[in-house]
Amino acid sequence: MANEAIGVIGAGAMGAGIAQTFAAAGFPVLMQDLKAEALARGRASIEASLARLVKRGKIAAEAAEATLGRIATSTDQQALADRALVVEAIVENIEIKSEVIRSLDAICGPETIFASNTSSISLTRLAAASERPERVIGMHFFNPVPVMNLVEIIRALQTSDAVCEEVTALTQAIGKTPRVSKDSYGFVVNRVLVPMINEAINCVYEGLASPEDVDEMMKLGANHPMGPLSLGDLIGLDIVLDIMETLYDGFDDPKYRPSPLLKQMVDAGYLGRKSGRGFFRYG
Ligand code: 3HC
Repeated sequence: MANEAIGVIGAGAMGAGIAQTFAAAGFPVLMQDLKAEALARGRASIEASLARLVKRGKIAAEAAEATLGRIATSTDQQALADRALVVEAIVENIEIKSEVIRSLDAICGPETIFASNTSSISLTRLAAASERPERVIGMHFFNPVPVMNLVEIIRALQTSDAVCEEVTALTQAIGKTPRVSKDSYGFVVNRVLVPMINEAINCVYEGLASPEDVDEMMKLGANHPMGPLSLGDLIGLDIVLDIMETLYDGFDDPKYRPSPLLKQMVDAGYLGRKSGRGFFRYG
């Protein structure tokens, strides 16, 4: 890309991680969110993540400073006008995401690529909201973004070959590994991963074992870096439920039925790390 300016919409855990990753690779980033407090929290989480990498000797303090220096913030969507690529990482709601895509159509130049970090919404439906559907694509990052190597690239039915190639090259330029999936419910990773988490929740629901033991069994018996319930807490149990419902409704297959306990946890507001309590408690 001749113009390397990147826009990220949404300053939550994913948006902040995505902004950090592009900035660390040398790209100028504008992180936009409607709320100034969200931008402040996003910047603080980037600072904490960079400090962690410095402390572990992964990067030099100067590199952390330079990364932070490449991240500007704004509450104004118009500030994204000159961006070559805008990645949205906002709430998982098709109407709200489509609205953002429609307003970007009016704000950004005709060459701008719109990428969505959606975990399971149809890219084809999102692309249909744009007047440039061939320039809409999925860039699905994984939590914690600075650590996880994969970017799952999702081609909408309308995405052009050129845009897919550009985004694949860009993913490599930020030090991540791109893999392309066609657009389908849950794409590849969440279609495999999230039903596994749901099944672990069913094991607890049916009283087979405690959350601690289920997690320990999967760590020791399957070499998972963290147990499925801890992972559900990390992702957010509301998002896990959202993905299960997308799979269940989309494929119309009972094997994707969300666990009753998962629904109860979400009803109770026990959403995982972000609410301080999920299957485990967080200080
Ligand atoms: N920023 C920067 N670095 C971080 C970090 C962060 N937020 N979180 C962890 N790290 C780094 C640490 O510095 C450390 O680096 P080092 O080993 O090179 O020194 C490394 O990651 C490991 O960290 P810790 O030692 O603190 O902790 P763990 O060894 O327990 O690893 C973990 C933490 C990386 C989260 C690991 O448990 C893991 O890989 N878990 C699985 C995560 C996963 O599956 N994510 C995908 C979720 S699905 C998703 O996001 C898709 C969505 O659509 C739902």
